[in-house]
Amino acid sequence: MKNISLFVCLCLTLLSVVSVTWAWLPSQNPIRGVNLGGLFVSEQWMMNDQWNSIGCGGRNDEWECVQALGQGKADAAFQQHWSTWITQADITEIASYGLNTVRIPLGFWMKEDLVRSDEHFPRGGFPYLEQICRWARDAGLYIILDLHAGPGGQDKNEQFTGHSVNYPNFFRSDNYERAYEFLEWLTETRHTNKNFANVGAIEVMNEPRPETDIEKKSLLDKYNPTAYDRIRAVEDRLGITQNNQLHIQFMGSRWGEGNPIQHWGSAPYFSLFDDHKYLHWDNGVPATRRDYLTHSCYDNVGAGSNSGNKPLIVGEWSLSPRDGDNAAFNISASDAVSWYGQWFAAQLRDYEKQRGWVFWSWKTNWIGGRNDWRWGYQQAVRAGVIPKSIDDAVAMNVKRVSTPHSPFPDEDSGDRDLQQTLEQEGGTLVTVTVQDS
Ligand SMILES: *[C@@H]1O[C@H](CO)[C@@H](O)[C@H](O)[C@H]1NC(C)=O
Repeated sequence: MKNISLFVCLCLTLLSVVSVTWAWLPSQNPIRGVNLGGLFVSEQWMMNDQWNSIGCGGRNDEWECVQALGQGKADAAFQQHWSTWITQADITEIASYGLNTVRIPLGFWMKEDLVRSDEHFPRGGFPYLEQICRWARDAGLYIILDLHAGPGGQDKNEQFTGHSVNYPNFFRSDNYERAYEFLEWLTETRHTNKNFANVGAIEVMNEPRPETDIEKKSLLDKYNPTAYDRIRAVEDRLGITQNNQLHIQFMGSRWGEGNPIQHWGSAPYFSLFDDHKYLHWDNGVPATRRDYLTHSCYDNVGAGSNSGNKPLIVGEWSLSPRDGDNAAFNISASDAVSWYGQWFAAQLRDYEKQRGWVFWSWKTNWIGGRNDWRWGYQQAVRAGVIPKSIDDAVAMNVKRVSTPHSPFPDEDSGDRDLQQTLEQEGGTLVTVTVQDS
């Protein structure tokens, strides 16, 4: 028998009441959801088996795969993918865990007449989008439709743009125009097709990365306001009253490409902001368990450069650490399930200081040769990392920083340091002792 110390760290949860009317936003709880990643924008890195079964093995992205298969064969293969990757049973399972939201990443090629003859993307996706929105509607889920992959590519060397490019050509007027037309079409679809009734927000561009200051300025001063105006113009034409209009979502300032509302000065009507919070890509937080928990416990995701961008949700985050293959973060370690569960709960508390969160992603398969549940909510629940009921994760505020089986002997002395740090920072800290055989 050995005593071990557990810390209970009660992260401050700000239960601030949002004063605006929230058309379709979940009224009781924060947004708690999952991304339907890999569905309409398939990314090889997170779904290797599925990628191979589509027939895309050895290809980097959707464009390359379609080019290799040929249009007709690719269309058939992707239709098979769309009908199997996320099914109605998945949607039912998402709702059964107490989640209330899905964010659906879309490529601009869903509106097929926008695709030029020298571009290569699968066709025939729309009925599957319609179907999944109907399932999500029937399950009572709030839906965010996200322009995830823009014409020309909004970032370079990324599978999530559908086509890995050396230079992101999105930031040009011809590609902006195609994006506006996509958003107009999506808006009209939302308001005229009842399958889309639970779509409450459209995100105008996921993770844009302009290369030059001129492009950055055009994103903020041209693209964002024009996208906003053109969505609203469709709604005006359709006679949609103000409180039935969509939320229009932009990446928040912390994304690093400027303040999305600099054109307006203050947030325009029914806007919504997005922060992608991946410690995986954050070099500022040392890659140790202790630093990760301390960071997630004391971080305030809406502060600093995001403070003017409200309401804010964390539209992407995961359980993947930087240096995920080092011993400290080994998913096969005997205490990995409990540690990652606690880091999940700590992150959730951070993001619920704002309007909520959407995990990346619902489902993955075979990342780096293994079933890595740090990117897949469904797998993480099945592995026992994330509780089946999200209410249990919300209630869970125990952060284990040392165990008798700890592979990190330094953590025992580190515990005292952490305790002091937490007390100095004014957090509520309770030390409990449990018995372990
Ligand atoms: C991860 O843990 C497993 C099980 O204890 C072990 O076999 C493996 O060597 C570990 N890997 C690393 C990188 O520590």
